[in-house]
Amino acid sequence: MKKILISDSIGQSGIEFLKGKGLDVVYMPDITEEQLLSEIGNYDGVIVRSRTKVTAEIIAAGKNLKVIGRAGSGLDTIDVEAAKKAGVRVVNAAGANSQSVAEHTMALILALFRNLIPVASALKNGTWEKKTYKAVDLAGKTIGIVGFGSIGSKVAVVARGFGMKILVTTRSETPEKKQLLDAVGGAFVPLEKLLKDADIVTLHVPKSGETVAMIGAKELASMKKTAFLINCSRGGVVDEKALIDALQKGIISGAGLDVFSVEPLPQDSDLLSLSNVILTPHIAASSVESRERTSLAVAQEVAKLL
Ligand code: MLT
Repeated sequence: MKKILISDSIGQSGIEFLKGKGLDVVYMPDITEEQLLSEIGNYDGVIVRSRTKVTAEIIAAGKNLKVIGRAGSGLDTIDVEAAKKAGVRVVNAAGANSQSVAEHTMALILALFRNLIPVASALKNGTWEKKTYKAVDLAGKTIGIVGFGSIGSKVAVVARGFGMKILVTTRSETPEKKQLLDAVGGAFVPLEKLLKDADIVTLHVPKSGETVAMIGAKELASMKKTAFLINCSRGGVVDEKALIDALQKGIISGAGLDVFSVEPLPQDSDLLSLSNVILTPHIAASSVESRERTSLAVAQEVAKLL
């Protein structure tokens, strides 16, 4: 019987599906790196999410490994090159969590525009903050979406619903993307223009050699002083030091971040002491529905290969 290790927390649907296919599934969502290294040799497949890093060392130790499945869209936590060299297939659940990420993006934007966190905590602490904070409407504002894949395009649809103007920067302006963008009345623009004109810049790109630190001091300085940066993609895409500096100096107005260059976010990170940021612990893709969809999608891919 083929054995599959699930080394991160995923929805139940995929686990049930794999068992239904007669596969021996071992669920160890808290497995340590050392344990993984010593046990991976017993498995034909491994399914991971963001916590487990599938390094070249793990792949080399996986003598029977045939497939690595990622219950998510990005592949940056897997050494894809090492897997390829070892003849191990890598699959993911592309698109299965896009709606969840798009909704979390909007949640961060709304919370920032409405000052929800300070106002709600003040009320719980006995202060009726009716005048201190000024909420700002989304209608009529410009959202700049960087990356127009399955998540970016969903953000555009929701933003359109709020009456926002939409600017998009994408690596590939395909006819399909153009059609989607036309439907929401948006326009493709170069990154420089997007950064200059947007009231909100939201990032939806994978982490790659091309995107690492794509938003640094220069890019932040070109944004409006009143603008917000949202990152629900990958931590490394933003130069975190430059962002902290920009937030401290008021170069931009604030940020909503779900991902960080180091995760879990270290307790001594300067981000934690800033009042103009909202931080969430990499949960954008974690809605109940998305966890199940993602789990099932990756399980189907893994089962197919085994
Ligand atoms: C993804 O790559 O789709 C997400 O980051 C997965 C996760 O939430 O861990």
